[in-house]
Amino acid sequence: MILELKDLFDKAGNTGYQEYFAPGRVNLIGEHIDYNGGLVMPIAISHGIKAIFKGNSESLIQLKSTTHSNLTLFTAETIPEAYSSEIGWCNYPAGVIQRLQNDGLKLDGFNLFFDSNLPEGSGLSSSAAIEVLTAFSLITEYGGKIDLPEIAVLCQQVENEFIGVKCGIMDQFAVANCKKDHALLLNCNTLQHEHIPFELDDYALLVVNSKKPRSLIKSAYNERKAESDEAVRVLKSNGALAEGQYLVDATMEAVAGIGDDVIRRRARHVVSENLRVKHAANALRMGDLHTFGRLMTASHTSMKEDYEVTGLEMDTLAETAQNIDGCLGARMTGGGFGGCAIALVRKNAIQSFTDILSRRYEMVTGLQCEIYVSQACDGVRAM
Ligand code: GLA
Repeated sequence: MILELKDLFDKAGNTGYQEYFAPGRVNLIGEHIDYNGGLVMPIAISHGIKAIFKGNSESLIQLKSTTHSNLTLFTAETIPEAYSSEIGWCNYPAGVIQRLQNDGLKLDGFNLFFDSNLPEGSGLSSSAAIEVLTAFSLITEYGGKIDLPEIAVLCQQVENEFIGVKCGIMDQFAVANCKKDHALLLNCNTLQHEHIPFELDDYALLVVNSKKPRSLIKSAYNERKAESDEAVRVLKSNGALAEGQYLVDATMEAVAGIGDDVIRRRARHVVSENLRVKHAANALRMGDLHTFGRLMTASHTSMKEDYEVTGLEMDTLAETAQNIDGCLGARMTGGGFGGCAIALVRKNAIQSFTDILSRRYEMVTGLQCEIYVSQACDGVRAM
């Protein structure tokens, strides 16, 4: 008999199941840098996705979610080989299951049921969260080796190859590897990483959900990636970059020499943003939040003017926030054209900050944003 979700949630009556959790993420600084081989600095947030795993004796793979209506049933043999629009959100876990099986992990029948408080399409990496959650729980349950950086790479490959989104490694890596009260400084080329204490003292990190649907994101993302590749091609052809180097390895002088205005500005964002991440990491190590905030604001300006991934909603949020008393800096976070902004705000100014920002944002865009304080949390884990 198929277990109902409510039964699985009823701890008293149902033992022998295991809960797992994967968080969403916000990126503090380093946007559109992961696929250009440079440095990013995300934190995991408290919102995320919970999964309940329970083996079944019917050799069935059952996927269900409290936020989506369909229950999807597979057997080990019928897990789809490729993305299928018919199974909607189940593509994410299905892509991971298919990949784990191909890699030789022996799975029996199981129920994997999801419950999420991570808003989808808001730039908080709900897709990376469900991928990493699926991989982590199944590898744990079926006795595979838990290597969090490897899990991140596997899930990025699923996103690239099975789902068909050519994202970089940041989101999956953050969801898998972040640490409570720390920011994750990640080199997206080597995957070397460092956990830097994220100590805000009298300040707090606010996440502002613009509630703007990110309809443009997929096409514009691929376009920006292509423009970055074009910048690399130009810089290699004139000897400013060597074979095997990434766009972040170019100097600002070399970038200034790119003839095409659009390509030059895209490259300028990437190279300057990578430098900002280095400075931001140092500022955080030294507890210099004022410098950190200034770098966040500069990052937004660069995304607005050079990389052109912001738009009216995100500019209104970030620029209004930057000018409110008690705010050290603010920027859009994530892929762009909607999603969330983040702001570093003095704790005793949060209420007035929230009032002013919400009012102004609604006046300009007609939308109501959602604002909450976020801590830096642990990555994927068993509960
Ligand atoms: C999205 C992608 C990431 C990264 C960001 C921009 O979140 O999934 O890989 O490229 O955009 O920094």
